[in-house]
Amino acid sequence: MTGIIADKNLAPQGKASYDWARAHMQIFNSIMEKYQSSKPLRGIKLAFCLHITKETSVLVMSAQKLGAKIAICSANPLSTQDDIAAFLSSKNILTYAWRGESDSEYRECIMKVLQFGPNIVTDDGGDMHNTIFQVPSLKILGGTEETTSGLARLRILHSSGKLNYPVVAVNDASTKHLFDNRYGTGQSAIDGLLRATGLLLAGKHVIVCGYGWVGKGIASRARGMGAIVSVTEVDPLRAMEASMDGYTVSKLSICAGYADFIITCTGQKHVISISEIIKMKSGVILANAGHFDTEIDIHSLHSKDKFPIQVRPYVEQFTIQRKLVYLISRGRVLNLVGSEGSPPEVMSLSFANQLLSIIYIAKNYSKMLPGIYCVPKEIDNYVAEAALRGMNIEIDKLSKMQRRYIGRQ
Ligand SMILES: NC(=O)c1ccc[n+]([C@@H]2O[C@H](COP(=O)([O-])OP(=O)(O)OC[C@H]3O[C@@H](n4cnc5c(N)ncnc54)[C@H](O)[C@@H]3O)[C@@H](O)[C@H]2O)c1
Repeated sequence: MTGIIADKNLAPQGKASYDWARAHMQIFNSIMEKYQSSKPLRGIKLAFCLHITKETSVLVMSAQKLGAKIAICSANPLSTQDDIAAFLSSKNILTYAWRGESDSEYRECIMKVLQFGPNIVTDDGGDMHNTIFQVPSLKILGGTEETTSGLARLRILHSSGKLNYPVVAVNDASTKHLFDNRYGTGQSAIDGLLRATGLLLAGKHVIVCGYGWVGKGIASRARGMGAIVSVTEVDPLRAMEASMDGYTVSKLSICAGYADFIITCTGQKHVISISEIIKMKSGVILANAGHFDTEIDIHSLHSKDKFPIQVRPYVEQFTIQRKLVYLISRGRVLNLVGSEGSPPEVMSLSFANQLLSIIYIAKNYSKMLPGIYCVPKEIDNYVAEAALRGMNIEIDKLSKMQRRYIGRQ
């Protein structure tokens, strides 16, 4: 099989990273024990559009062991770990991905993967799902979606009548967003910020825009490191939650003026507009942990300073009205560009949901109409129980009497 990757000589390094991640993704032991002999994905052509990280390689290699033929591209032009792409390519996975793809190369990689003729697709952010309806010859049996923003786009696709296969909303499984979005992204976004800037967080004013699952994780991790954290929201319930969790809740136009760091994680567009940026103090650092690079108005930033200086690998310095504004990882997803993405222990939960949902579609697609489906409760529970076993944690069980007391059989 051929594909396009940066450097095939990186495969041994990728294998070592794969082994490291696999050793921290215990749930995959029980999934493989349960399914490896029956090979439920035999005959399936599987396309992945995911961030190509060491954790993703565990999902991909497991799906291959269960019988699938696989092609993969990245879910972001800047997030590919080239050693992992080389490793996957060396394992007969058709791989089109390298770090630093241009926007058009990124779209071409998605098309190349679709030319492989998949019948099940797993996407992160919806770029692949949104490309599929442009290729009417494809016969897709079903798909899955990894993230909040991807699901928002799928709902639009579905309501416009363009979604013609069932998609399982992996993001909405409790064992996904409660852990990956919150604890995984929370930790890795702070990791990305620190790796990119090398600066101190203690005593700094950090503004977190959006108090959803990702925002809760980032805010709590930043506070844990001594930052003074404020939150901005548009949803009154979440604003109230942030306030009762002990954060200052404010309008961006008020708190942006004293911010040292502003991190967006809303899934929205232009949360940080140029009119806000102009009012910020000199030296402010802007970063985004949401899926797309739409949350900060980067276009206007570039129109105000056409020659930003690259002061560190993932830090650009803009000069606007004699004030300095720093942008991390070009406004792209901070934790996957500046660091390695969410840690294997939480990605094992997300990707266990992915693999089990793919198996579910392979078995049940003929009974499923086009639309967006929840991850079956049995899968969510299985992942939670397997995760607890992997953590050597035992929990109590309701007695017969207690079950009857709350009306359960
Ligand atoms: N970086 C990662 O690894 C990673 C992981 C998971 C999710 N994500 C992405 O992060 C983003 C957020 O995901 P989530 O699961 O937290 O979503 P969520 O829906 O739980 O939270 C988003 C929050 O942002 C708020 N919001 C929307 N517009 C706003 C605005 N203009 N100002 C302030 N707040 C606003 C919403 O009210 C909501 O509370 C999505 O793009 C998602 O795809 C990234």
